[in-house]
Amino acid sequence: MPDPTDYSDLIEADRVHRTLYTDEQIFRTEMNKIYGGTWTYLAHASELSKPYSFVRRTLGLRPVIVTKDRNGQFHGVLNRCTHRGATVCRDESGTARRFTCPYHNWSFDNTGALVGVPMEEGYGPDFDKSKLGLGKLRVAEYRGFIFGTLNSELPDLETHLGHAARRLDEWMDRWPGGRISVRHGQHKLICNGNWKLVNDNSADGYHPGFSHASLLRMRKDRYGGGVDMQWVLGNVDEGLQTVADLGNGHTFLDQRREIERYWDQSAPMPGEDSYVETLRTRMGEKAEAALDMVMGSGMNLNIFPNLLIIGNQIQVIVPRALARTDLIWYSTSIEADDIPPEINSLRMRLQEDFPSFGEPDDLANFEECQSGLSVPEMEWLVVSRHRTTGKEYVDEHGHTTGPVTDELPIRAFWAEWQKWMTSTTKLVAQ
Ligand code: FES
Ligand SMILES: [Fe+2]
Repeated sequence: MPDPTDYSDLIEADRVHRTLYTDEQIFRTEMNKIYGGTWTYLAHASELSKPYSFVRRTLGLRPVIVTKDRNGQFHGVLNRCTHRGATVCRDESGTARRFTCPYHNWSFDNTGALVGVPMEEGYGPDFDKSKLGLGKLRVAEYRGFIFGTLNSELPDLETHLGHAARRLDEWMDRWPGGRISVRHGQHKLICNGNWKLVNDNSADGYHPGFSHASLLRMRKDRYGGGVDMQWVLGNVDEGLQTVADLGNGHTFLDQRREIERYWDQSAPMPGEDSYVETLRTRMGEKAEAALDMVMGSGMNLNIFPNLLIIGNQIQVIVPRALARTDLIWYSTSIEADDIPPEINSLRMRLQEDFPSFGEPDDLANFEECQSGLSVPEMEWLVVSRHRTTGKEYVDEHGHTTGPVTDELPIRAFWAEWQKWMTSTTKLVAQ
């Protein structure tokens, strides 16, 4: 294996080395330097709707709990008892004023303060509970998206998101006055592949017409036309879709300029005719704009390192081991007085579609990449597409942009990865 001290032997302009996906030491470093070093997505505020709500999550491999206190403030604490290290919260979600460690019953309030120690006098007169609260993350929220870090030197979240925040605004503000909420329940997929294979795919406009050919064919055969994904067939470089490097590792795939009418380009859904009839009768002309909210947003927005906005959904990458990743899809609803429940029912039907029929194609590719990358004699992967074809340009916001099959997002990812992997910033729990 080449010298990994600054990773420049592994990451070149046109190619990256296979060990980035297969080396245990690199994986462990990523889990400590990238996850926790940069702002990392943890949860959505709508999952923590009540006072004292909590969800159990991870920051890299660190177990964490995201909580909401009685004043509505969010907190991130390390799920690691300050006594002898056990996790104090073992439920996925719920409401709790306190977390009581099952081992010896030390208990912590939902901001992490140690509030109870059985037979406390046994620790002597100098025992100071105020110094033994749960480790704390720095937590920040951008319009419902809650991120955490252990890096006190990072700029504030909105600065860090930069132009990605504007794209997130566009994603959230499709319906005037509407709010996006994350539905409880998740579609969890387990991948026997490295977490970065998912990032490589998240703005890959090169693969859909090939990888998802069976899905496209099935829809065409059953429903005729298959118009819903017509923009992924043929020479997509000749179309209007683009990918862009938004800075700080965030990238964007934009299909919107090829979408003439969202509803007309939607995939077929079970029972849609009766929903549509009801909505058109009840809402008149306004039904058409509401139906457009059913269809995916036409955007893939990738927030480094673990948050992917795909269509109407949120996908979170949860690394578990070098070659084991959980992919968690959260469906979203629109909350607005003038959005009828049928719209959210249809959104749910549509959001069941791709994770069930499309994502398995991607998962199979991730696992087969992991298998192929285990071959030591074949060392490199190609990431050069459109780097030198003259098709990239700088857009009005100053972001490098290219045709939809450009491997620019992968190159942007590796540049940000290298920045964090070589960072010497000391991470600390507050
Ligand atoms: S390890 Fe938590 S109370 Fe002992
Ligand atoms: Fe795909």
